[in-house]
Amino acid sequence: MLHAKPIITDAPLATVFSKDRCITAPALNAPAGLHYNTRLKMDGLDLLSKLPANAIPVAFFDPQYRGVLDKLSYGNEGVSRGKARCSLAQMSEKTIQAFIAAISRSLIPSGHLFLWMDKFHLCTGFANWLEETALDVVDMLTWHKGRIGMGYRTRRTSEHLVVLQKKPRRAKGIWKVHTIPDIWSEQVKPGSHAHKKPTQLQGELIAAVSNPGDLVIDPAAGSFSVLEACQNTGRNFLGCDLNG
Ligand SMILES: C[S@@+](CC[C@H](N)C(=O)[O-])C[C@H]1O[C@@H](n2cnc3c(N)ncnc32)[C@H](O)[C@@H]1O
Repeated sequence: MLHAKPIITDAPLATVFSKDRCITAPALNAPAGLHYNTRLKMDGLDLLSKLPANAIPVAFFDPQYRGVLDKLSYGNEGVSRGKARCSLAQMSEKTIQAFIAAISRSLIPSGHLFLWMDKFHLCTGFANWLEETALDVVDMLTWHKGRIGMGYRTRRTSEHLVVLQKKPRRAKGIWKVHTIPDIWSEQVKPGSHAHKKPTQLQGELIAAVSNPGDLVIDPAAGSFSVLEACQNTGRNFLGCDLNG
């Protein structure tokens, strides 16, 4: 494994809306026993422990929130979609914190973590998840799914994506796609995985904060929608799921 540092070329850039990136992530060989661009079946914390510090430009994390099931009290956990959700390993707050801390460690300076989040955590706060990290909240997007979901009061049609950046926090010379709206409509074919996220949106975000050939990680990959997004954008992928 190479322990090179990211190369920062601080050439003056015209504006914060520049389409250039002034940071190059170090080239990394896959850690022993792991492979790029495939669906690894393993614990995400184990995968993250094998990564060097300050090496990865982009990470996605979509926790299997136990809290949502508790708060919604679906009462239908033995039926259809409820059953599909409950058959996936749930993550405690402590586990989610451990994932985020390990991702923060592995990101290059000014690297990004795209963190999928439900509205309960968004509204009640998640600041404690960032306490042991070098991450700041820099943006947020809402994914409009184009279909009606569950909810006793309003019915859910959206999910949220919090954009976190490792210090130092900056957009100029780092974020290079400036056309992504913060409400994104994309339909995902139901069936493959109860929590599959929009491939096109994830591809746009990857293109915004990495260069072709860069490595993108997703340690709880579900349907491996981020792998698909990497294939569409010419990036390398390293990710896993307990279920493979
Ligand atoms: C919300 S889903 C991810 C969906 C994914 N973003 C997609 O687009 O399909 C969370 C996934 O985390 C997995 N998971 C739970 N605990 C895990 C762990 N310790 N290591 C790796 N994966 C885990 C579950 O099996 C589930 O597939």
